[in-house]
Amino acid sequence: MSELKLIGKPAQRYDARDKALGITKYGADFVMPGMLHAKVLRSKYPSAKILSINTHEAERLPGVKAIITAKDVPYNERASNVVGQTTEIGAIQAIQPVLAKDRVRFLGEPIALIAAESLEIAEKATNLIKVDYEKLPVVSDPIEAMKPSSPLVHEGSNILAKWKIAKGDIEKGFKESDVIVENTYYTQFQDHAYMELEGGVAWIDNDEVINIRLTTQVIEHYRDVAKVLGVPESKIRVIGTFIGGGFGGKEDVTVETFLALLVQKTKKPVKLIYTREESILAHDKRHPFVMKYKTGAKKNGKLVALKAELVSDAGAYAYLSPWVLLYATVHASGPYDIPNIKVDSKTVYTNNIFTSAFRCFGGTQVCFAYESQMDELAHKLGMDSLKIREINYIKRGEKLPAGQRIESTVALTETASRAWKALEKPNKSKKGKRIGRGFASMMQSYGRLTMLHDSSHAWVGIEMDGSLIIRTGVPDLGGGQGSSLVQIASEILGIPGEDISIHLTDSSLTPLAGTTTATRQLYMSGNAVLQASRNLRNMILSRASQMLNVSKEELDLTDKKVIVKKGKKEIPLVDVVKEMAADGLPRNSFAMFNAPFSKPLNSEMEQYERVFPDFTFGTQAAEVEIDEETGKIKVTQLVSSYDVGRVVNRNSVEGQMEGGAVMGIGYALLEDIKSEKGIIQAKNLAQYLIPTSLDVPEVKTIILESKTGLGPFGAKGIGEPSMTPTAAAIANAIYDATGIRFTSLPITPEKIIMALKKKE
Ligand code: MOS
Repeated sequence: MSELKLIGKPAQRYDARDKALGITKYGADFVMPGMLHAKVLRSKYPSAKILSINTHEAERLPGVKAIITAKDVPYNERASNVVGQTTEIGAIQAIQPVLAKDRVRFLGEPIALIAAESLEIAEKATNLIKVDYEKLPVVSDPIEAMKPSSPLVHEGSNILAKWKIAKGDIEKGFKESDVIVENTYYTQFQDHAYMELEGGVAWIDNDEVINIRLTTQVIEHYRDVAKVLGVPESKIRVIGTFIGGGFGGKEDVTVETFLALLVQKTKKPVKLIYTREESILAHDKRHPFVMKYKTGAKKNGKLVALKAELVSDAGAYAYLSPWVLLYATVHASGPYDIPNIKVDSKTVYTNNIFTSAFRCFGGTQVCFAYESQMDELAHKLGMDSLKIREINYIKRGEKLPAGQRIESTVALTETASRAWKALEKPNKSKKGKRIGRGFASMMQSYGRLTMLHDSSHAWVGIEMDGSLIIRTGVPDLGGGQGSSLVQIASEILGIPGEDISIHLTDSSLTPLAGTTTATRQLYMSGNAVLQASRNLRNMILSRASQMLNVSKEELDLTDKKVIVKKGKKEIPLVDVVKEMAADGLPRNSFAMFNAPFSKPLNSEMEQYERVFPDFTFGTQAAEVEIDEETGKIKVTQLVSSYDVGRVVNRNSVEGQMEGGAVMGIGYALLEDIKSEKGIIQAKNLAQYLIPTSLDVPEVKTIILESKTGLGPFGAKGIGEPSMTPTAAAIANAIYDATGIRFTSLPITPEKIIMALKKKE
């Protein structure tokens, strides 16, 4: 490709105007004639036997059209996330009921579904269903849950999955170390707190297909729905809407199975929207981790040994916990070259709310640990904290401690020095305030696990007037996924964005593109659209070269014209399209993009040849100001610096880098669901605090482009990596301000005050 015209520019998104004007329809905005309204009856206890469920009174309530309990579900025992998400490997074949039958394992677990003529009637009916429980012991701490004396959440063992990494001789490594740092780190439950709640509308059409229109990151869950209903997969259609935030929280099944069951039973359209309280109570959270780290280095700063023991709280059901743990395990040593390493990790069932995908997918918890360790090593050695990292950063061509060779550019030295330098001159110290600065570097994979045979499809076709249609099953989370694909097609085909329509996220009508998760859509579907666009370009130029009597290589496509690059000849694109039609030539292209594949993994492995397609690297630097009297922590500066491979839409890249950092501030300082014996303590957004504009400084972005990523034009991914190091950078800045190493998140004013008092 010669020079690029649109790629890298701050393009306006085609969906921006409608969103700004409030016209865009989200999951909750759709209505159907004769539609019923649904509610979910949920468990009152975190752990109990269900002795009986009595629905008689609720059924007699006028306006109630259907009540469904476990006995009415054709296949109630589905493996969690069978398809579209995870595969079942060995012990990780975890079973989860659609509706609880004789046992509940977390507070808020679904027990019954109700559809009625109005929401009020549905709510009333929910209260008329009588459930007799016998309370069972609760285990809510994953460390406790591993003890043999602990109550079992599921049969067998509370340990759901294990992974490990081993290389070199760990004991020898520590013997050779001049300095050793040991700490245990704790992280909390985090809620995705997207503005748009889970919900959708479903109906049955004239072809006996159940259509489910909802907000989801994964339309491929139509397969899960089909399995539960006992119908062919072709009889379920999932249509995704624009999404008001996902962050991993709309990656698992949410309301689709419930809606489909109610439609199957009533044959009427049904709507189900969660309330905020219900969403917080009953959708997945980020995994709390307990991380025991021991890191050893030589006097010159060279790392020689790292030992980490990770325990994550899976909550009551498996969901994606084994995979989040695998990500955490592979990322546990950070972007560093370490000769001797041992990582052991476990994810453990408890009676807490289940945990699953959340932006960074296990990467941010371990980053908090490994970057706190690096900072402390620098202090112990009296070394510059940039210097010690520079010495140890992994280099392109080298293997990670986990075994995978890094094939793309590692721009860590550059991102770190630039982020650090971009912090403005130290503020003059103010009375009663402590000011500190810190930074953290990271690596984070983009693209799904290579053993999952990931692929994406796209179709691109030109109309008789020269306008273009793109079809691909990509869910747009608000990250601008659709818009970037338009930009790629526009670049290749010389058709302006206004003349391109893109149809996204329909499991029956758009070619499947896989999940909008794992920072994979620009990489995967970007490549699929790029390939389809290039094929179509080739077809157009072939026909045009006959018309113009010059070779294809001398032609270019721009502004809906075919031009001869060196010369003055040009013809309108529509003329070529007409000729193609007259000759019966195809005017569209369908492409499939495959990610690299690798062998299946198992929990006995100690080294991995390849786990992920590739990694994104970057650094964030922060300045904090701490009030000595109140303990209030203000982030006064935040710089985010990444090698994104290649910028496609500059606005979108900056948006991700700012948004990720803001989410990271919430994770570092504010957000915590807190579970007390399986009962969540923050029940709504008044109790669960997320950052507001008052908590956030201007986020400075520094964007590097190595052009060595696996995505279109060398792009890497930035959606999730943008959040990974924020909490670690802030914790390191707090250490700089106070001399206190905080090892548990969030770092609240209470913790600051207590620690300052203790230190005096
Ligand atoms: Mo994600 S946390 O892979 O949506």
